[in-house]
Amino acid sequence: MKVTAIAPANIAFIKYWGRKDEELRLPTNGSISMNLSNLLTTTTVEFSSRYKKDEILINNEINKKENEKIERFLDKVRQIAKTNSRAKVVTKNNFLKSGGLASSASGFAALAMAATVSIGLNLSEKELSILARIGSGSACRSIPDGFVKWVEGRDNQSSFAQSIFAPDYWNILDIVVVTQTENKKVTSTDGHKLVKTSPFFQKRLRNIKNKIKKIKEYIKQKDFIKFGELVEREALELHAIMLTSNPPILYLQPKSIEIIRAVWQWRSEGLSVYFTIDAGPNIHLICQEKDQKRLIDKLQKIKDIKYIINSPANGTRLVGKHLL
Ligand code: DP6
Repeated sequence: MKVTAIAPANIAFIKYWGRKDEELRLPTNGSISMNLSNLLTTTTVEFSSRYKKDEILINNEINKKENEKIERFLDKVRQIAKTNSRAKVVTKNNFLKSGGLASSASGFAALAMAATVSIGLNLSEKELSILARIGSGSACRSIPDGFVKWVEGRDNQSSFAQSIFAPDYWNILDIVVVTQTENKKVTSTDGHKLVKTSPFFQKRLRNIKNKIKKIKEYIKQKDFIKFGELVEREALELHAIMLTSNPPILYLQPKSIEIIRAVWQWRSEGLSVYFTIDAGPNIHLICQEKDQKRLIDKLQKIKDIKYIINSPANGTRLVGKHLL
């Protein structure tokens, strides 16, 4: 059966960085995120006896390394469904790949839903989140709606994501400032393996449960200033861990630093905006809807950037319009 799913990328406010189980992608700590309305992956999957091998097309290209990852994921789906059937997979992002825009998150979330439905499985949201996690850790957070928590768990069955607030609970925005479109040099999959070499990682873990508790409180109370301050501190801590890993990882580019400094300047002028950053040079600007216009006016004066405006969004869902 031909099935199409659409999945959002997500931005983590408290980050997943480090794994206690590489194979299962069990994270060292829990994380909190929000799904993004305008960074989407659409994936059509058709399992059929007509296909003698998996045929995979990502953004109209055949990419050997990416295709192998998808085949391994399809093997997992075949194993659960106990069949040997092959599939055709066509997938498209409405945004550039890599560069820290979490294409693996939306990618594996859409694939998990489209592939399991196409092969005839009827997985619950929890089971889908677990399966997506095995493709890419952060993908488990793109399955449920809105604001999401991923509990680290002890084993495969206990590590999955759940919605904590619906998308319309709080109308904050994530304006992603795209500073660079090139693919990044160190993938997050490799970055996760280096955390233990940072002298600050253990220190980070000692406070992480408290951070998760606090961020949930601030979202619940819609306390934007406390929320923004914690989100920004968390992003800087993540990049401090990256910088102090051995070998070090430096994702930030001169343009990223320019935006960070601009945010601090704007805030000193009374504009309530905070930033967060993933494993890439792009800067996510977090603001309230009421400040959107003022912020966009400022952004338009900065050269050589693009920006994508995102509101909180639903998670992964099926759609009727197929790509093949
Ligand atoms: C910095 O989910 O991309 O964006 O499990 O190896 O696929 P893999 O890693 P990935 O890591 C995301 C890291 C991050 C923080 C976050 O999204 O929580």
